[in-house]
Amino acid sequence: MKKPENSIFVIFGGTGDLAKRKIIPALYQNYIQGLLPEKFVIVGLGRTEYNNDSYRDIFREWIQDQSQMEEFLKLVSFQKLQVDTGDDFFALKEYLDHLHLESESPKNYLFYLAVGPDLFGPIVNNLGRAGLCGKSKSTGWRRLIVEKPFGKDWVSARQLNHTLLQYFDEEDIYRIDHYLGKETVQNILAFRFANGIFEPLWNRNYIDHIEITGAESDGVGKRGGYYDQSGHMRDMVQNHLLQILATIAMEPPNNFESKAVRDEKVKIFEALASIDINNIENNVIRGQYSLLTMDGNKIKGYLQEDKVPSGSKTETFVAMKIFIDNWRWSGVPFYIRTGKRLPSRVNEVVIHFKKTPHHLFTSSKNISHNKLILRIQPDEGIVMNFGMKKPGEGFQIKNVSMDFHYSDLTSKSLPDAYERLLLDVLNGDPTLYARNDAVEACWRYIDPILKEWQTNDAIGLYSYPAGSWGPVEASRLFENKDQSWHNPCPSLTAKGENCNV
Ligand code: BG6
Repeated sequence: MKKPENSIFVIFGGTGDLAKRKIIPALYQNYIQGLLPEKFVIVGLGRTEYNNDSYRDIFREWIQDQSQMEEFLKLVSFQKLQVDTGDDFFALKEYLDHLHLESESPKNYLFYLAVGPDLFGPIVNNLGRAGLCGKSKSTGWRRLIVEKPFGKDWVSARQLNHTLLQYFDEEDIYRIDHYLGKETVQNILAFRFANGIFEPLWNRNYIDHIEITGAESDGVGKRGGYYDQSGHMRDMVQNHLLQILATIAMEPPNNFESKAVRDEKVKIFEALASIDINNIENNVIRGQYSLLTMDGNKIKGYLQEDKVPSGSKTETFVAMKIFIDNWRWSGVPFYIRTGKRLPSRVNEVVIHFKKTPHHLFTSSKNISHNKLILRIQPDEGIVMNFGMKKPGEGFQIKNVSMDFHYSDLTSKSLPDAYERLLLDVLNGDPTLYARNDAVEACWRYIDPILKEWQTNDAIGLYSYPAGSWGPVEASRLFENKDQSWHNPCPSLTAKGENCNV
């Protein structure tokens, strides 16, 4: 594989949680696999007093596998920087130019904004003033990775886009949505567009409804402060879940260039049918997990979590019925269900095909829709469900399944989404990043719901016990008796408690 061009990787928030959990481990994995550029420097930025040595020490704590750590650490250095101090950015520029002279490479700088969203604007303004932004480059490239949340509503997302675009060209702005970097989400595209047998069925003529589940067993943990301001709609639906939906629903692009792929996704976001706000609970149900006491053990409810204000009305669960107003999907409901403190961490898409028009076998009357399950995580794989004749007398129909597990394809564990995404930026490929029009279209769709929730106290916030599949009210969304939630088990093919395969 061709190596990316030599470059300097600058992390705002270089000592923060995201650097610790995602960015540095991903860079280290890429390093071990020889995928980083020939000449590469990582510059961590932060307010804390570190020097290069003490900064490298924290990497030794962050990463367990130390096999190539000492070599890797030679790439790493630290600069103290206050994001609201313009002079620090001039000092940063000097430092980067000095590193660049040492490495004899073009001035290819990548700035990763791994900080709170309030700081995105000030940082980019200061990068611009110091002559470090894309539009002031003389040689090499300047790229910007922007973490989520990208704005908190449509207006703020537009303002943020406006600020970024003053200093960077759209092609140099990488808005991260780590779900797009997940191997299994990418595989949805391969599954759909590399096979002849599924695509002809992939439309309103053959599909009854589609379910997308984003379940997490964890609660909000230490992130109560952030999460209470955000809520689950902003945290998971506006970005990750809608991106999965678009990957499932988009038309085949003309080619696999980033523009073609992203154009098709935007068309889906723009075709999302507005939710009827006057009947919002026919389409959107929100919930919040409550304390569970079982066998003397307690699982905290949301209101007992750290930094969550008492009486908070922030949702930790969202179920939605979404329609796409276009030729392919008209009338097909997409049911989304996502929440914290559900029974297990499972992400999957279930395509429920239409039933046969006429039941030849009495026992097939009650047989469920044929299902195709695309499992994003864990136990990544694909399962096809269909009816077969039970051996023996008569015509008894039984549901059986055919399954594929990623683990059969490779003995290696699947790469973390960040590994792929960071390499893509270094290679200048934005296909798996969200474009400005896509982000804005998603906010435009979600905004009226958030506004209604905020202003209309009559709308329910339904409580569900921690560890359950969410409020029972979520089942109100279904169009008919044949539809119901598929409660996925952690294993793709083995039954567990409280779930079905
Ligand atoms: C993040 C959200 O974007 O995605 C978190 O902020 C959520 O609240 C996480 O837990 C889920 O990601 P994953 O990869 O663990 O499914």
